[in-house]
Amino acid sequence: MNVIVTDNPEQAFQCIADMIANEIRRSSTPVLGLATGRTMENIYRLLVQQHKAGALDFSDTTSFNLDEYVGLAPTDLNSYHHYMQNHLFAHVNMQANRAHVPNGIAPDLEMECARYEAAIHAAGGIDLQLLGIGETGHIGFNEPPSAFDSRTRVVHLDEVTRRQNSCMFDNDPDRVPSHALTMGVGTILDARRLVLVAVGKGKAAIVNEALNGPISEAVSASAIRLHDNATIILDTAAASDWK
Ligand code: F6R
Repeated sequence: MNVIVTDNPEQAFQCIADMIANEIRRSSTPVLGLATGRTMENIYRLLVQQHKAGALDFSDTTSFNLDEYVGLAPTDLNSYHHYMQNHLFAHVNMQANRAHVPNGIAPDLEMECARYEAAIHAAGGIDLQLLGIGETGHIGFNEPPSAFDSRTRVVHLDEVTRRQNSCMFDNDPDRVPSHALTMGVGTILDARRLVLVAVGKGKAAIVNEALNGPISEAVSASAIRLHDNATIILDTAAASDWK
């Protein structure tokens, strides 16, 4: 595991955006695993800038998002489908049929999870998986406890996560959907490379627990220490509890 600590958040975002851009340039058929949330908005902003400057071509890129809320249609402003359109897909030249997000309104959610796993497999697996970390230590929406061999499935969202994400739902945790579809920890660990980013003091305690505490299904992010090609990028604030 390689840990990089940057002087400020913007440097952390730039570092990750460069890693993703390099992966897109390196491979003739790059397959990215993507995440959502406030942190990632900054990374997509930088990737869009590179594309608009003519320096980054997404036409051969395939992507798989980690998760989606159950019950939110792709057109819902709070869905991760909409988030990805808004922050990345609408601004770059990715082919729509290569940009995958789990379908939170599929009539049969179990079947949707199996379909999603099969689609990742059919694409040849994920080359680079982008990860954030939630207050519960989740990666994707793998709330504690999540088995390290878990696959894409329906999960119940922790109350802490519903509060964390309530800013998108009029600051009302009860309006945050109670369930989500998420790639499992096992699905994530199958990616050939993992890159986790965390910035800000609010992430310091959970980052330290994930990096220094026991490798445990009680902290999903600790699983990335089992991966042989994982990079963690932190700003000084997020790294401030890490010894
Ligand atoms: C969402 C996801 C989550 C977020 C995490 C941090 O697709 O993968 O694990 O990365 O909840 O979210 P922010 O960046 O909003 O703190």
